[in-house]
Amino acid sequence: MNIFKLKGKAILSPMAGVTDAAFRILAKRYGAGLVYTELISSAALVRAINKTNYLIQTSEEEKPVGIQLFGNNAEEVVEAAKIVQDKFDFIDINCGCPAWSVIRTGSGSELLKNPEKIKIFVENLVKNVNIPITVKIRIGINDKNINAVKVAKLIEEAGASAIAVHGRTREQGYSGTANWDVISEVKSNVEIPVIGNGDVFTPEKFKECLDKSKVDGIMIARGAIGNPYIFKQISDFISTGKYSKLDNKKIFFEYLDLAKKFDINFNLIKGHAISFTKGIEKSTELRNELGKTKDIDEIIKIYDNIVNR
Ligand SMILES: Cc1cc2nc3c(=O)[nH]c(=O)nc-3n(C[C@H](O)[C@H](O)[C@H](O)COP(=O)(O)O)c2cc1C
Repeated sequence: MNIFKLKGKAILSPMAGVTDAAFRILAKRYGAGLVYTELISSAALVRAINKTNYLIQTSEEEKPVGIQLFGNNAEEVVEAAKIVQDKFDFIDINCGCPAWSVIRTGSGSELLKNPEKIKIFVENLVKNVNIPITVKIRIGINDKNINAVKVAKLIEEAGASAIAVHGRTREQGYSGTANWDVISEVKSNVEIPVIGNGDVFTPEKFKECLDKSKVDGIMIARGAIGNPYIFKQISDFISTGKYSKLDNKKIFFEYLDLAKKFDINFNLIKGHAISFTKGIEKSTELRNELGKTKDIDEIIKIYDNIVNR
């Protein structure tokens, strides 16, 4: 399967605590070209730790869907990939996560310090796994060590099918702005598809970044939290120059139906319920009320009243 024969160039970025199976389907329904699970520990998968079961739920409706793995040991990542390769369309390796819990194990963005190790990971996966391998990176560890082009070339040599680049360094966290110049440089230095990522919150910004960088797709993370409808807004804007506003209530209930079907954990549902208030009048009050809820019925009651506010 060519994961790059996409219906849309706007892609749902992997997000821990956000991109559960229900949310991914919603993004897909509204036009996301590709969706990913959140990052999942290869070690936990291999040791069959129960906590990972809900993370690897998937369904036909969201295809093509990638599973994002992290790990510090090439054999273990291959083993984890083999466990899930029949359920997913591609495996993405996380080489960008800046969280201490991940980098202290030598995984995520820590791997950017050792590009040859990333190459070995990808070579092993390509050799032993029967679905495409992709990698998501940041542009470097800090502004003195911006090595995205070098890393991307090694990833391509190793046989990966695509690379996604978040245009920030690890040291930046989420501060400053994403450097789309480095993303463009990566795009012009490799043949495999490049997905750009960082600070795209509107259809206008999406078009600007796509036109300037010529990337094959753009991942959207924070801009999709509380608004998976952004994928429809983008495709409408590209084809007509206009787009309509999100109907928060409608989309929340659509999410809730899916969340029940996939038995999504209440705290995740509550997190989405809070996020879906984005842009609603008096949303601070609503968020406070939603924050106190203890079950789905309480959330529904609050959402039912939204129309009367
Ligand atoms: C809540 C949250 C969770 C995230 N979890 C992941 C993750 O599991 N894997 C990953 O590669 N990136 C993760 N990211 C990073 C995003 O995928 C993305 O690279 C980053 O937010 C920049 O894109 P944006 O400017 O569109 O938000 C996460 C970001 C957020 C806000």
